[in-house]
Amino acid sequence: MIDIEDFDQLQGYLRKTGRIGSQEAVSIRLLGGGVSNKTVLVIRSTGESWVIKQALTKLRVQSDWFSDPARIHVEANGLRYLPQVTPEGSTTPLVFEDTAENLLAMEAVPEPHHNWKQQLLSGELSREFFGQFAELLGSIHRESFRLRHELAPLFADKRYFKTLRLEPYYEYTATVVPQAAPFLEELVAWTLSRTDTLVHGDFSPKNVLLHRNRLVLLDHEVLHFGDPAFDVGFSLTHFLAKALHLPQKRSQFVEAALHYWKLYNDEVRGTPWAAQLAFRAAQHTLASLLARVCGRSPLEYLRREERALQQKIVVEMIIEKNCPTVDQVITGFSARTAEAELGAASRP
Ligand SMILES: Nc1ncnc2c1ncn2[C@@H]1O[C@H](COP(=O)(O)OP(=O)(O)O)[C@@H](O)[C@H]1O
Ligand SMILES: [Mg+2]
Repeated sequence: MIDIEDFDQLQGYLRKTGRIGSQEAVSIRLLGGGVSNKTVLVIRSTGESWVIKQALTKLRVQSDWFSDPARIHVEANGLRYLPQVTPEGSTTPLVFEDTAENLLAMEAVPEPHHNWKQQLLSGELSREFFGQFAELLGSIHRESFRLRHELAPLFADKRYFKTLRLEPYYEYTATVVPQAAPFLEELVAWTLSRTDTLVHGDFSPKNVLLHRNRLVLLDHEVLHFGDPAFDVGFSLTHFLAKALHLPQKRSQFVEAALHYWKLYNDEVRGTPWAAQLAFRAAQHTLASLLARVCGRSPLEYLRREERALQQKIVVEMIIEKNCPTVDQVITGFSARTAEAELGAASRP
């Protein structure tokens, strides 16, 4: 097995396998940010740039967390098939896949580009990008449902979604927060029982690059046919956690989250699973908000007291069992956050 983070080895491998010329020198740079893959940028003498990803067996997080590196094949299939179900230019073309080495190469998104998560954390919110994000998710869900006879067999395997999402996020959280365990366990059982359409599984601003004012989606290793409401809850969590983290931008994040949810609904209206999706999306939002402060992969930008506050609010909302809508989860979470801050400020 080669190690792509060893640049001499990688260049030798690319030459030996005929991916580049036998004498060609490439410039190689490590790309950070991810936890489940080695990712490097390769700039060829032709001017072409590739990103090479190799799946890790043990993820780069504090707790022990393992997943079969053969999952890189799911990501390669994502790069092959997502263009059929997404607006043009919203994914990167696959260059090659090597299943023996658990790696793939895709075209690099050209410079200049920006990571959307970094932009959001710096307090810069553009309504346009939230709209594109909603269209992108709605398009994946709606169009994959339309093409389900072709796509469902290719993305039937839920193994990586289980080891990278359900176990470390929901199931682990159920062991840490027993009050939420029945809620989370029921949601896991429901999620596993669904095969409605293609679910991205990592639909987060962190996996979005902005290039020429268009969103490019990355990181497709947990794609599977399952419950589309998961992607809604997973993505909304990122907006709401930032609403908590950045009080001055809170109302903008709340407004953007409501806009995102509304536009997403416009995209999937008329599909047979759209009606029940709203109820489950609200549940996944609560579950994911909790999992991102109590699970194996907590949001790194939240301070300790912010994590504690998010946990407290979400556990309260789960225990109340009043089946809120997605809109109510969004506005309720932010209102409770503001109340808690007011309470803390008025204490002597
Ligand atoms: N095609 C690409 N073009 C440019 N940068 C990329 C590309 N793919 C990945 N990256 C960079 O590498 C980082 C990690 O890649 P990602 O696919 O998200 O890996 P992981 O699964 O480890 O999270 C991304 O956040 C991005 O900055
Ligand atoms: Mg990533």
